[in-house]
Amino acid sequence: MSQTYPGASADRLRIHNLARAEARNSFAEDVRAGLLAEPKKLLPKYFYDELGSQLFEAICLLPEYYPTRAENEILTGYADEIVRAVEGPKTLLEMGSGSASKTRCIIEALLKQQDELLFVPVDISATALETSSRVLLQSYPRLRIEAYAGDYYDGLAALHERPEGTRTLALFLGSNIGNFDADEAQRFLRAMRSVLRAGDALLLGADLKKEPAVLEAAYNDALGVTAAFNLNLLVRINRELEANFDTRAFRHHVAYNAEIGCVETYIESQRAQSVRMGKPGLEIHFAEGERIHTENSYKYDLAGLSRMAEETGFVRARTWLDEREQFSSNLLMVAESDAV
Ligand SMILES: C[S@@+](CC[C@H](N)C(=O)[O-])C[C@H]1O[C@@H](n2cnc3c(N)ncnc32)[C@H](O)[C@@H]1O
Repeated sequence: MSQTYPGASADRLRIHNLARAEARNSFAEDVRAGLLAEPKKLLPKYFYDELGSQLFEAICLLPEYYPTRAENEILTGYADEIVRAVEGPKTLLEMGSGSASKTRCIIEALLKQQDELLFVPVDISATALETSSRVLLQSYPRLRIEAYAGDYYDGLAALHERPEGTRTLALFLGSNIGNFDADEAQRFLRAMRSVLRAGDALLLGADLKKEPAVLEAAYNDALGVTAAFNLNLLVRINRELEANFDTRAFRHHVAYNAEIGCVETYIESQRAQSVRMGKPGLEIHFAEGERIHTENSYKYDLAGLSRMAEETGFVRARTWLDEREQFSSNLLMVAESDAV
């Protein structure tokens, strides 16, 4: 289903809603399978209901959560250089755009170079997509937006032809790539590569390995905002799947696994308890201290990023770092060879 939004931004916004009719069923099925698995797990893409998206925006403002500030510093300082590294007029594609706050630096740099710009954001959160699109269109009269509300892969499959004579600059910011393990990251990058052509590029934001205490604090802030973001998964399951999780009987738990370079996030049961889910009818038992794995945040080094790029049909052509060298913005150019 696709909708245009006339009004203040006069037909410059089209949103394709890819939320399939069976979306609720797949949420129920994924939650059922995850909670029956050993060990228990839930998929991080389900964090982003309306409250989850807003809690993520709050996380970006926390003193402990350095990745957003570090990436913003890079994009503010080097946006002109980044966009010049891809030749000619460009279409801007962004996966998991969220509020698209950092994207503004890139949009502004592109609008210095070209008269008009098509921005194509893909995000699973339809509300974040609609709000951010309206705000961007108010700021930039020469911007048009063709947005896809859905999963990354559904978005990539549905993409329309880009405007003739433009190259694509794709963005995957916020170290979203870190939510994937090595196989998933490869699958995602190959899918990105398949929609790009020679001369196109992907700007990949990747958080760098650093002291465990800094990493753990970033995902376990003193105010408990990240805890609320994590536990909101249970609130969402209660609401959408008629479950009776007592959210207060669970807690947020974070640990850096140095062996694999990954911050692992869990929800931990504070006592032995049973939870009922109405859809599908199910009773789940938790031992005291039992955990549900909810998110991985893998951390990188530059050699690993080069390898990942090469294995998926890209070349890491340029990398920009923030002053404290906490975060990296990597321009992955489509490799000459088509073998992916
Ligand atoms: C960690 S936030 C990052 C937002 C923004 N790119 C930034 O750097 O601040 C992840 C974003 O990706 C979206 N997202 C998460 N999983 C997704 C998926 N499987 N498909 C599409 N979007 C997804 C979320 O809705 C959210 O807006």
